[in-house]
Amino acid sequence: MNNKIHMRALLTAGFLAISGLALAHGDIVPQAVETKGLPPLGEEWAEENPYRAPSEHHDLAVEIGSSAYNQNCARCHGLEAISGGIAPDLRELEASHDGDEWFKERVINGAVRDGAVYMPRMADTLSQEALWAIRTYIESEAAKQ
Ligand code: HEC
Repeated sequence: MNNKIHMRALLTAGFLAISGLALAHGDIVPQAVETKGLPPLGEEWAEENPYRAPSEHHDLAVEIGSSAYNQNCARCHGLEAISGGIAPDLRELEASHDGDEWFKERVINGAVRDGAVYMPRMADTLSQEALWAIRTYIESEAAKQ
């Protein structure tokens, strides 16, 4: 094979492999979320969504949660929290203590079945503040139904 062509073929193959990896990788790794303005909650998980109305931080939480949701959850749970069927519709989770319990369980532990990761452990990367902000955003979308 002509050397120049060989080189190009190698470069192309390398590029495809790298971009393929980057795509696969980008699919799973949660994106850090800036939560400035929301009060820090500490290490211990809150019992209930601390930003639920009438919290004075409700509106900011919805705003932060909206973009955080779109970056980290929408590809599986659907744009604007409307499920496309790949993963459960999160608007169905009641805005109550029980709903909060289940939300925490899933974002902390993820979902693994037969060794396959259906949902990554989001709380490994996203802060408690970011996750409650996402929860607050989902609740505001649910209220629009
Ligand atoms: C890679 C896909 C994927 C991503 C990304 C993802 N999830 Fe999930 N999630 C799932 C699947 C699949 C299930 C259902 C798991 C099961 O039933 O075993 C699920 C279940 C849940 C549940 C339980 C819902 C119920 O009705 O039982 C909650 C809460 C949840 N996810 C929240 C989130 C949040 C919040 C984010 C973003 C921070 C997120 N998920 C990101 C795939 C994903």
